[in-house]
Amino acid sequence: MANQSIEHPPLKLLVTGGAGFIGSNFIHYWLAQYPQDSIVNLDLLTYAGNLANLTSVESLPNYQFIQGDICDPMVVDSAMTDVDIVVHFAAESHVDRSIMDPDTFLKTNVLGTHTLLQSGLKHNIKRFHHISTDEVFGTLELGRHDQFSETTAYDPRSPYSASKAGSDHLVRAYGETYGLPYSITNCSNNYGEYQFPEKLIALTITNLIEGKKAPVYGDGLQVRDWLYVKDHCRAIELVLLKGQDMTTYVVGGLTQDVSNLEVVKQIVKLMGLDESSIEYVTDRPGHDRCYSVNWSKIKNELGWQSSVNLEEGLKKTVDWYRAHPEWWQPLKEKNQVYFTKQYAGGIQE
Ligand code: NAD
Ligand code: DAU
Repeated sequence: MANQSIEHPPLKLLVTGGAGFIGSNFIHYWLAQYPQDSIVNLDLLTYAGNLANLTSVESLPNYQFIQGDICDPMVVDSAMTDVDIVVHFAAESHVDRSIMDPDTFLKTNVLGTHTLLQSGLKHNIKRFHHISTDEVFGTLELGRHDQFSETTAYDPRSPYSASKAGSDHLVRAYGETYGLPYSITNCSNNYGEYQFPEKLIALTITNLIEGKKAPVYGDGLQVRDWLYVKDHCRAIELVLLKGQDMTTYVVGGLTQDVSNLEVVKQIVKLMGLDESSIEYVTDRPGHDRCYSVNWSKIKNELGWQSSVNLEEGLKKTVDWYRAHPEWWQPLKEKNQVYFTKQYAGGIQE
Protein backbone atom coordinates (compact mmCIF):
# COMPACT_ATOMS: atom_id res chain seq x y z
CA MET A 1 0.00 0.00 0.00
CA ALA A 2 2.77 2.50 0.89
CA ASN A 3 5.38 3.57 -1.69
CA GLN A 4 8.95 2.53 -1.22
CA SER A 5 10.30 5.35 0.98
CA ILE A 6 12.41 7.98 -0.76
CA GLU A 7 15.63 9.11 0.90
CA HIS A 8 15.89 12.79 1.81
CA PRO A 9 17.44 15.00 4.49
CA PRO A 10 15.08 15.56 7.47
CA LEU A 11 12.28 17.96 6.58
CA LYS A 12 9.88 20.09 8.57
CA LEU A 13 6.43 20.11 7.01
CA LEU A 14 3.65 22.57 7.74
CA VAL A 15 0.41 20.70 7.04
CA THR A 16 -2.66 22.92 6.95
CA GLY A 17 -6.05 21.33 7.55
CA GLY A 18 -4.39 18.24 9.00
CA ALA A 19 -7.36 17.50 11.27
CA GLY A 20 -9.63 17.00 8.25
CA PHE A 21 -10.17 13.91 6.14
CA ILE A 22 -7.29 13.87 3.66
CA GLY A 23 -4.92 15.92 5.84
CA SER A 24 -5.16 13.48 8.76
CA ASN A 25 -4.67 10.48 6.47
CA PHE A 26 -1.62 12.27 5.04
CA ILE A 27 -0.14 12.93 8.50
CA HIS A 28 -0.50 9.26 9.45
CA TYR A 29 1.03 8.19 6.17
CA TRP A 30 3.96 10.61 6.30
CA LEU A 31 4.95 10.01 9.92
CA ALA A 32 4.92 6.24 9.34
CA GLN A 33 7.02 6.56 6.17
CA TYR A 34 9.40 9.27 7.43
CA PRO A 35 9.78 9.23 11.23
CA GLN A 36 12.86 11.46 10.90
CA ASP A 37 10.71 14.33 9.55
CA SER A 38 8.57 16.63 11.67
CA ILE A 39 5.08 17.95 11.08
CA VAL A 40 3.31 21.05 12.33
CA ASN A 41 -0.44 20.76 11.80
CA LEU A 42 -2.24 24.12 11.56
CA ASP A 43 -6.01 23.65 11.69
CA LEU A 44 -8.86 25.86 12.81
CA LEU A 45 -11.01 22.85 13.82
CA THR A 46 -14.12 23.89 11.92
CA TYR A 47 -17.05 21.43 11.85
CA ALA A 48 -14.84 19.29 9.54
CA GLY A 49 -11.72 19.26 11.70
CA ASN A 50 -11.47 16.50 14.27
CA LEU A 51 -8.55 15.75 16.57
CA ALA A 52 -9.95 12.25 17.09
CA ASN A 53 -8.44 11.52 13.65
CA LEU A 54 -4.97 12.02 15.11
CA THR A 55 -4.93 10.41 18.55
CA SER A 56 -2.23 7.88 17.64
CA VAL A 57 0.24 10.62 16.62
CA GLU A 58 -0.62 13.39 19.09
CA SER A 59 2.12 12.54 21.60
CA LEU A 60 4.92 11.96 19.08
CA PRO A 61 7.84 14.37 19.64
CA ASN A 62 8.00 15.22 15.92
CA TYR A 63 4.30 16.21 15.69
CA GLN A 64 2.83 19.53 16.83
CA PHE A 65 -0.73 20.78 16.60
CA ILE A 66 -1.62 24.47 16.39
CA GLN A 67 -5.26 25.48 16.45
CA GLY A 68 -5.48 28.56 14.25
CA ASP A 69 -6.87 30.18 11.14
CA ILE A 70 -4.91 30.21 7.86
CA CYS A 71 -6.40 33.68 7.28
CA ASP A 72 -4.56 35.06 10.34
CA PRO A 73 -1.08 36.30 9.27
CA MET A 74 0.31 36.26 12.84
CA VAL A 75 -0.69 32.65 13.42
CA VAL A 76 0.53 31.62 9.98
CA ASP A 77 3.89 33.40 10.35
CA SER A 78 4.52 31.75 13.67
CA ALA A 79 3.57 28.29 12.32
CA MET A 80 5.88 28.84 9.31
CA THR A 81 9.05 29.12 11.43
CA ASP A 82 11.83 26.90 10.00
CA VAL A 83 9.37 25.13 7.70
CA ASP A 84 10.78 23.49 4.56
CA ILE A 85 7.56 22.44 2.83
CA VAL A 86 3.95 23.56 3.16
CA VAL A 87 1.31 20.95 2.30
CA HIS A 88 -1.86 22.96 2.05
CA PHE A 89 -5.09 21.01 2.60
CA ALA A 90 -7.06 23.51 4.70
CA ALA A 91 -10.24 24.55 2.94
CA GLU A 92 -13.97 24.57 3.07
CA SER A 93 -14.50 21.44 1.00
CA HIS A 94 -18.19 20.60 0.61
CA VAL A 95 -19.99 21.78 -2.54
CA ASP A 96 -23.49 21.70 -0.99
CA ARG A 97 -22.37 23.93 1.89
CA SER A 98 -20.82 26.34 -0.63
CA ILE A 99 -24.20 26.65 -2.31
CA MET A 100 -25.91 27.40 1.04
CA ASP A 101 -23.27 29.78 2.34
CA PRO A 102 -20.41 30.78 0.02
CA ASP A 103 -18.76 33.46 2.22
CA THR A 104 -16.44 31.23 4.25
CA PHE A 105 -15.39 29.43 1.07
CA LEU A 106 -14.06 32.63 -0.43
CA LYS A 107 -12.42 33.71 2.79
CA THR A 108 -10.67 30.43 3.66
CA ASN A 109 -9.98 29.06 0.21
CA VAL A 110 -8.86 32.27 -1.49
CA LEU A 111 -7.70 34.66 1.23
CA GLY A 112 -6.38 31.90 3.50
CA THR A 113 -4.28 30.51 0.65
CA HIS A 114 -3.00 34.01 -0.05
CA THR A 115 -1.96 34.49 3.58
CA LEU A 116 -0.02 31.22 3.45
CA LEU A 117 1.67 32.17 0.17
CA GLN A 118 2.79 35.54 1.54
CA SER A 119 4.22 33.90 4.62
CA GLY A 120 5.85 31.06 2.68
CA LEU A 121 7.62 33.60 0.49
CA LYS A 122 8.80 35.58 3.51
CA HIS A 123 10.18 32.40 5.14
CA ASN A 124 11.93 31.19 1.98
CA ILE A 125 10.26 27.79 2.05
CA LYS A 126 11.51 25.13 -0.37
CA ARG A 127 8.08 24.17 -1.74
CA PHE A 128 4.45 25.22 -1.41
CA HIS A 129 2.29 22.23 -2.31
CA HIS A 130 -1.34 23.08 -2.94
CA ILE A 131 -4.02 20.40 -2.79
CA SER A 132 -6.66 21.25 -5.35
CA THR A 133 -9.50 19.57 -7.16
CA ASP A 134 -10.60 18.37 -10.58
CA GLU A 135 -13.75 20.47 -10.06
CA VAL A 136 -11.88 23.59 -11.22
CA PHE A 137 -12.21 22.25 -14.79
CA GLY A 138 -16.01 22.39 -14.75
CA THR A 139 -18.06 19.59 -16.23
CA LEU A 140 -17.87 17.14 -19.14
CA GLU A 141 -20.80 15.80 -21.17
CA LEU A 142 -21.91 12.29 -20.27
CA GLY A 143 -20.84 9.74 -22.87
CA ARG A 144 -18.04 11.94 -24.31
CA HIS A 145 -14.46 10.72 -24.81
CA ASP A 146 -12.49 13.66 -23.46
CA GLN A 147 -11.02 13.92 -19.97
CA PHE A 148 -9.59 16.59 -17.69
CA SER A 149 -5.81 16.93 -17.82
CA GLU A 150 -3.14 19.41 -16.72
CA THR A 151 -3.84 21.54 -19.83
CA THR A 152 -7.64 21.74 -19.52
CA ALA A 153 -8.93 25.32 -19.26
CA TYR A 154 -10.51 26.29 -15.93
CA ASP A 155 -14.32 26.53 -15.91
CA PRO A 156 -15.52 26.26 -12.29
CA ARG A 157 -19.28 26.21 -11.77
CA SER A 158 -19.91 26.21 -8.00
CA PRO A 159 -18.80 28.68 -5.31
CA TYR A 160 -16.56 25.88 -3.96
CA SER A 161 -14.84 25.16 -7.28
CA ALA A 162 -14.59 28.87 -8.10
CA SER A 163 -12.84 29.50 -4.79
CA LYS A 164 -10.46 26.58 -5.39
CA ALA A 165 -9.76 27.86 -8.91
CA GLY A 166 -8.95 31.28 -7.41
CA SER A 167 -6.51 29.66 -5.01
CA ASP A 168 -4.80 27.69 -7.81
CA HIS A 169 -4.34 30.91 -9.81
CA LEU A 170 -2.83 32.63 -6.78
CA VAL A 171 -0.36 29.78 -6.21
CA ARG A 172 0.81 29.96 -9.83
CA ALA A 173 0.93 33.76 -9.67
CA TYR A 174 3.28 33.56 -6.65
CA GLY A 175 5.46 31.14 -8.61
CA GLU A 176 5.59 33.28 -11.75
CA THR A 177 5.81 36.69 -10.09
CA TYR A 178 7.89 36.08 -6.98
CA GLY A 179 9.59 32.77 -7.80
CA LEU A 180 7.92 30.85 -4.96
CA PRO A 181 8.58 27.14 -5.66
CA TYR A 182 5.19 25.44 -5.84
CA SER A 183 3.45 22.29 -6.96
CA ILE A 184 -0.28 21.64 -7.37
CA THR A 185 -2.27 18.42 -7.47
CA ASN A 186 -5.82 18.54 -8.87
CA CYS A 187 -7.32 15.32 -7.64
CA SER A 188 -10.67 13.62 -7.98
CA ASN A 189 -13.17 12.52 -5.33
CA ASN A 190 -11.38 10.93 -2.38
CA TYR A 191 -13.01 8.35 -0.14
CA GLY A 192 -11.88 6.22 2.79
CA GLU A 193 -11.52 6.39 6.55
CA TYR A 194 -12.07 9.64 8.51
CA GLN A 195 -14.22 11.23 5.78
CA PHE A 196 -16.87 13.51 7.23
CA PRO A 197 -20.26 11.79 6.76
CA GLU A 198 -21.66 14.54 4.52
CA LYS A 199 -19.88 13.32 1.35
CA LEU A 200 -21.58 10.75 -0.88
CA ILE A 201 -19.75 7.54 0.09
CA ALA A 202 -19.44 8.27 3.83
CA LEU A 203 -23.06 9.48 3.97
CA THR A 204 -24.36 6.43 2.11
CA ILE A 205 -22.52 3.96 4.36
CA THR A 206 -23.45 5.67 7.63
CA ASN A 207 -27.09 6.19 6.61
CA LEU A 208 -27.37 2.52 5.70
CA ILE A 209 -25.82 1.46 9.03
CA GLU A 210 -28.41 3.66 10.75
CA GLY A 211 -31.21 2.00 8.80
CA LYS A 212 -31.88 5.17 6.80
CA LYS A 213 -32.07 5.59 3.02
CA ALA A 214 -29.16 6.56 0.77
CA PRO A 215 -30.05 9.90 -0.89
CA VAL A 216 -29.19 10.11 -4.59
CA TYR A 217 -29.41 13.54 -6.22
CA GLY A 218 -31.49 13.82 -9.41
CA ASP A 219 -31.22 10.81 -11.71
CA GLY A 220 -27.97 9.58 -10.13
CA LEU A 221 -26.29 9.32 -13.53
CA GLN A 222 -23.61 11.89 -12.70
CA VAL A 223 -20.09 10.55 -12.98
CA ARG A 224 -17.19 11.14 -10.61
CA ASP A 225 -13.68 9.69 -10.53
CA TRP A 226 -13.04 7.95 -7.19
CA LEU A 227 -9.64 7.88 -5.50
CA TYR A 228 -8.88 5.92 -2.32
CA VAL A 229 -7.43 8.43 0.14
CA LYS A 230 -4.26 6.47 0.91
CA ASP A 231 -3.47 6.32 -2.79
CA HIS A 232 -3.84 10.08 -2.87
CA CYS A 233 -1.31 10.35 -0.01
CA ARG A 234 1.13 8.21 -2.03
CA ALA A 235 0.69 10.57 -4.99
CA ILE A 236 1.40 13.65 -2.85
CA GLU A 237 4.53 11.96 -1.46
CA LEU A 238 5.90 11.41 -4.98
CA VAL A 239 5.13 14.97 -6.06
CA LEU A 240 6.83 16.40 -2.95
CA LEU A 241 9.96 14.25 -3.13
CA LYS A 242 10.35 13.55 -6.85
CA GLY A 243 8.25 16.16 -8.70
CA GLN A 244 9.76 19.33 -10.15
CA ASP A 245 8.98 22.81 -8.84
CA MET A 246 6.33 24.84 -10.71
CA THR A 247 4.48 21.68 -11.80
CA THR A 248 0.87 20.55 -11.75
CA TYR A 249 -0.40 16.97 -11.75
CA VAL A 250 -3.96 15.72 -11.98
CA VAL A 251 -4.60 12.64 -9.86
CA GLY A 252 -7.44 10.18 -10.33
CA GLY A 253 -8.25 6.64 -9.35
CA LEU A 254 -10.33 5.13 -12.15
CA THR A 255 -9.97 4.29 -15.81
CA GLN A 256 -13.65 4.06 -16.66
CA ASP A 257 -16.79 6.05 -15.87
CA VAL A 258 -18.87 5.00 -12.88
CA SER A 259 -22.14 6.80 -12.08
CA ASN A 260 -23.14 7.86 -8.58
CA LEU A 261 -26.00 5.38 -8.76
CA GLU A 262 -23.59 2.54 -9.53
CA VAL A 263 -21.40 3.55 -6.58
CA VAL A 264 -24.39 3.65 -4.24
CA LYS A 265 -25.67 0.30 -5.59
CA GLN A 266 -22.24 -1.26 -4.97
CA ILE A 267 -22.30 -0.06 -1.36
CA VAL A 268 -25.88 -1.28 -0.85
CA LYS A 269 -24.85 -4.72 -2.14
CA LEU A 270 -21.65 -4.83 -0.06
CA MET A 271 -23.77 -4.13 2.99
CA GLY A 272 -26.16 -6.97 2.20
CA LEU A 273 -29.12 -4.66 1.46
CA ASP A 274 -31.32 -4.15 -1.60
CA GLU A 275 -32.16 -1.18 -3.80
CA SER A 276 -35.19 -0.22 -1.73
CA SER A 277 -32.55 1.48 0.47
CA ILE A 278 -31.98 4.09 -2.25
CA GLU A 279 -34.00 7.31 -2.36
CA TYR A 280 -33.92 9.82 -5.24
CA VAL A 281 -33.90 13.33 -3.78
CA THR A 282 -33.91 16.89 -5.10
CA ASP A 283 -30.90 17.57 -7.30
CA ARG A 284 -28.00 19.89 -6.43
CA PRO A 285 -28.30 23.28 -8.22
CA GLY A 286 -25.77 23.53 -11.07
CA HIS A 287 -24.83 19.89 -10.49
CA ASP A 288 -21.74 19.06 -12.57
CA ARG A 289 -22.64 16.09 -14.76
CA CYS A 290 -19.34 14.38 -15.26
CA TYR A 291 -15.72 14.42 -14.12
CA SER A 292 -13.13 12.14 -15.64
CA VAL A 293 -9.41 12.61 -15.23
CA ASN A 294 -6.46 11.60 -17.35
CA TRP A 295 -3.76 10.90 -14.80
CA SER A 296 -1.12 9.69 -17.28
CA LYS A 297 1.33 12.52 -16.46
CA ILE A 298 1.83 11.45 -12.83
CA LYS A 299 1.90 7.82 -13.96
CA ASN A 300 4.53 8.38 -16.66
CA GLU A 301 6.69 10.93 -14.82
CA LEU A 302 6.52 9.70 -11.23
CA GLY A 303 5.44 6.07 -11.62
CA TRP A 304 2.24 6.55 -9.59
CA GLN A 305 -0.95 4.62 -10.03
CA SER A 306 -3.70 3.71 -7.62
CA SER A 307 -3.12 0.50 -5.69
CA VAL A 308 -6.73 -0.12 -4.67
CA ASN A 309 -9.63 -0.54 -7.08
CA LEU A 310 -13.09 0.86 -6.34
CA GLU A 311 -14.52 -2.43 -5.14
CA GLU A 312 -11.63 -3.05 -2.71
CA GLY A 313 -11.65 0.57 -1.57
CA LEU A 314 -15.40 0.53 -0.90
CA LYS A 315 -15.06 -2.69 1.06
CA LYS A 316 -12.28 -1.23 3.24
CA THR A 317 -14.35 1.92 3.76
CA VAL A 318 -17.53 0.06 4.69
CA ASP A 319 -15.52 -2.07 7.16
CA TRP A 320 -13.97 1.03 8.71
CA TYR A 321 -17.28 2.87 9.22
CA ARG A 322 -18.88 -0.29 10.60
CA ALA A 323 -16.03 -0.62 13.12
CA HIS A 324 -16.01 3.06 14.16
CA PRO A 325 -19.53 4.29 14.99
CA GLU A 326 -18.02 6.21 17.92
CA TRP A 327 -16.18 8.34 15.34
CA TRP A 328 -19.04 9.26 12.99
CA GLN A 329 -22.21 9.12 15.09
CA PRO A 330 -21.39 12.26 17.15
CA LEU A 331 -20.56 14.14 13.94
CA LYS A 332 -23.95 13.34 12.45
CA GLU A 333 -25.69 14.28 15.68
CA LYS A 334 -23.84 17.61 15.99
CA ASN A 335 -24.61 18.50 12.36
CA GLN A 336 -28.34 17.71 12.40
CA VAL A 337 -29.22 21.29 11.44
CA TYR A 338 -27.15 21.00 8.28
CA PHE A 339 -28.55 17.59 7.30
CA THR A 340 -32.14 18.67 7.89
CA LYS A 341 -31.67 21.80 5.77
CA GLN A 342 -29.76 20.04 2.99
CA TYR A 343 -32.28 17.23 2.56
CA ALA A 344 -35.41 19.33 3.19
CA GLY A 345 -36.26 19.21 -0.54
CA GLY A 346 -37.29 15.61 0.06
CA ILE A 347 -37.95 12.79 -2.33
CA GLN A 348 -38.05 13.51 -6.05
CA GLU A 349 -41.32 12.55 -7.75
P1 NAD B 1 -12.15 18.47 5.05
O1 NAD B 1 -13.33 19.36 4.93
O2 NAD B 1 -12.34 17.08 5.57
O3 NAD B 1 -11.05 19.15 5.99
C1 NAD B 1 -10.70 20.49 5.89
C2 NAD B 1 -9.85 20.83 7.09
O4 NAD B 1 -9.46 22.21 6.97
C3 NAD B 1 -10.58 20.70 8.44
O5 NAD B 1 -9.77 20.03 9.37
C4 NAD B 1 -10.84 22.14 8.86
O6 NAD B 1 -10.90 22.31 10.26
C5 NAD B 1 -9.64 22.85 8.24
N1 NAD B 1 -9.91 24.28 7.99
C6 NAD B 1 -10.99 24.81 7.38
N2 NAD B 1 -10.88 26.16 7.38
C7 NAD B 1 -9.72 26.46 7.98
C8 NAD B 1 -9.04 27.69 8.27
N3 NAD B 1 -9.58 28.87 7.94
N4 NAD B 1 -7.84 27.64 8.88
C9 NAD B 1 -7.30 26.43 9.23
N5 NAD B 1 -7.90 25.26 9.00
C10 NAD B 1 -9.09 25.27 8.38
O7 NAD B 1 -11.47 18.48 3.63
P2 NAD B 1 -10.80 17.28 2.82
O8 NAD B 1 -11.85 16.52 2.15
O9 NAD B 1 -9.81 16.62 3.67
O10 NAD B 1 -10.05 18.14 1.68
C11 NAD B 1 -8.74 18.62 1.90
C12 NAD B 1 -8.30 19.42 0.69
O11 NAD B 1 -8.38 18.61 -0.47
C13 NAD B 1 -9.18 20.63 0.39
O12 NAD B 1 -8.34 21.67 -0.03
C14 NAD B 1 -10.09 20.16 -0.73
O13 NAD B 1 -10.46 21.25 -1.54
C15 NAD B 1 -9.16 19.24 -1.46
N6 NAD B 1 -9.81 18.16 -2.21
C16 NAD B 1 -10.66 17.31 -1.55
C17 NAD B 1 -11.22 16.24 -2.26
C18 NAD B 1 -12.15 15.27 -1.61
O14 NAD B 1 -12.71 14.43 -2.30
N7 NAD B 1 -12.35 15.31 -0.30
C19 NAD B 1 -10.92 16.07 -3.61
C20 NAD B 1 -10.09 17.00 -4.24
C21 NAD B 1 -9.52 18.02 -3.52
O1 DAU C 1 -14.01 16.12 -7.43
C1 DAU C 1 -13.32 16.45 -6.26
C2 DAU C 1 -14.29 17.00 -5.25
O2 DAU C 1 -15.02 15.89 -4.76
C3 DAU C 1 -13.61 17.72 -4.08
O3 DAU C 1 -12.96 18.86 -4.58
C4 DAU C 1 -14.63 18.13 -3.01
O4 DAU C 1 -13.95 18.69 -1.91
C5 DAU C 1 -15.38 16.89 -2.58
O5 DAU C 1 -16.40 17.26 -1.67
C6 DAU C 1 -15.99 16.19 -3.79
O6 DAU C 1 -17.05 16.99 -4.38
P1 DAU C 1 -18.40 16.32 -4.91
O7 DAU C 1 -19.47 17.32 -4.92
O8 DAU C 1 -18.15 15.55 -6.17
O9 DAU C 1 -18.61 15.23 -3.72
P2 DAU C 1 -19.92 14.75 -2.94
O10 DAU C 1 -19.51 13.56 -2.14
O11 DAU C 1 -20.59 15.86 -2.25
O12 DAU C 1 -20.84 14.26 -4.12
C7 DAU C 1 -20.42 13.25 -5.02
C8 DAU C 1 -21.53 13.06 -6.05
O13 DAU C 1 -22.65 12.48 -5.39
C9 DAU C 1 -22.01 14.35 -6.66
O14 DAU C 1 -22.38 14.10 -8.00
C10 DAU C 1 -23.24 14.70 -5.83
C11 DAU C 1 -23.79 13.33 -5.48
N1 DAU C 1 -24.49 13.23 -4.18
C12 DAU C 1 -23.88 13.76 -3.07
C13 DAU C 1 -24.51 13.71 -1.85
C14 DAU C 1 -23.87 14.32 -0.63
C15 DAU C 1 -25.70 12.58 -4.09
O15 DAU C 1 -26.23 12.06 -5.11
N2 DAU C 1 -26.32 12.51 -2.88
C16 DAU C 1 -25.79 13.08 -1.75
O16 DAU C 1 -26.44 13.01 -0.68
